[in-house]
Amino acid sequence: MGTTKGSLVVSTLVTPIGPAPARGPALGEPLVIREAGVAWEDGVLTYVGPADGLPADHPNVFEGCTLVPGFVDCHTHLPFTGWRADEFEARLAGRTYRDLHGEGGIYRSARFLADADDDEILAFCRPLVREMADHGTTALELKTGYGLSIEGELRQARLARRLAEESPQTCTVTLLACHAVPKGTSRADWVRAARDELIPAAAAEGLADAVDIYVEDIAFTIEDLREVAEAAAAVGLPLRCHADQLGPSGAAEAAAALGARSADHLNNVSGEGVRALGAAETAAVLLPASTFLIRATPPSARALVDAGAAVALASDFNPGTSPVLSMPEVVAFGCTLYGLSPHEALSAATVNPAWVLGLSDRLGMLADGMRADFLVLEGDAFRQVPYRPGHDPVLHTFVGGERVGGR
Ligand code: NIG
Ligand code: FE
Repeated sequence: MGTTKGSLVVSTLVTPIGPAPARGPALGEPLVIREAGVAWEDGVLTYVGPADGLPADHPNVFEGCTLVPGFVDCHTHLPFTGWRADEFEARLAGRTYRDLHGEGGIYRSARFLADADDDEILAFCRPLVREMADHGTTALELKTGYGLSIEGELRQARLARRLAEESPQTCTVTLLACHAVPKGTSRADWVRAARDELIPAAAAEGLADAVDIYVEDIAFTIEDLREVAEAAAAVGLPLRCHADQLGPSGAAEAAAALGARSADHLNNVSGEGVRALGAAETAAVLLPASTFLIRATPPSARALVDAGAAVALASDFNPGTSPVLSMPEVVAFGCTLYGLSPHEALSAATVNPAWVLGLSDRLGMLADGMRADFLVLEGDAFRQVPYRPGHDPVLHTFVGGERVGGR
């Protein structure tokens, strides 16, 4: 890291303290230190505590500001290219996300991706990843799922790796091997191809850090989930699952039973699914911006927290259901739409998504030895963030002790 040493002082520091992932009451009980300071060296925190104990002489002083760990966005659909605002408008006029699937939706983004060359796609994505840094995202997941052929998916994964290399943030890549059944193929044939060819090929080339599948009546089944789980396990990759988004399918409990890293969306999760996620390792990744944009019913986030589930919040950033990349906005939706407290939302946007991405040994908390990824926020308490949706609270975003964004 370039800047070898640094230190700063703020009015308030708020950080989860682990163990990761936070569950139950611990989700809403981060450590709060008034008049706090941090110091770092070579990209790693060397002091986190009261300002008067700071082992540094001339710290930067941010009066009236709050310091938190950088946001970890553990569910996005970057890289993609092109927007679908007309579908948004069609939904406002009465169509549903389901209605648009086929002529539009995932298939449309797949066409945009296929019709663009690599440089065009990266040129579209770069400013978006930069905008994420400005809004405080210091680590994120990239996903495939718009390739819709073996070569198309591998190409999207390679583009994701290139984007990751170029970005200051830590990026992981998830192979969304089963997102929509490719036109001209049967579901069974595609699942077989994903299982026997795509997942092994992506793993052999080191292109994926996890494998995902969209379980829904318009997409794939629980049986398909089992096949994908087996293929992911065979190459040693964690499993993720788009579960119970548009309707109830039992995907959450199936994902939990299969030892998935996460079940994501969960708008229609059953009581049994809630209990299963409470008892399993599998994190419950909630995506309230997509709920807002497709005007879906929120899941019972409170029931998930009370059951002991490892609740995370993410953007689901994609051109269809969630063109929202701002984690402060997601935190705001997580509070007002899903009923999380501001401190629960903070843990759900930092330590828990870091765990989902397999990064919680170095990201998601502020403590000695963790990476110096943090945000200086306007306002002397974290509650200002969800309280003022639409206002950008991120003054400075640091990754590895270097400023990479803010306003
Ligand atoms: O997570 N619903 C499945 N996949 C995405 C949307 C993808 C799209 O519409 O392009 C989601 O919401
Ligand atoms: Fe998604």
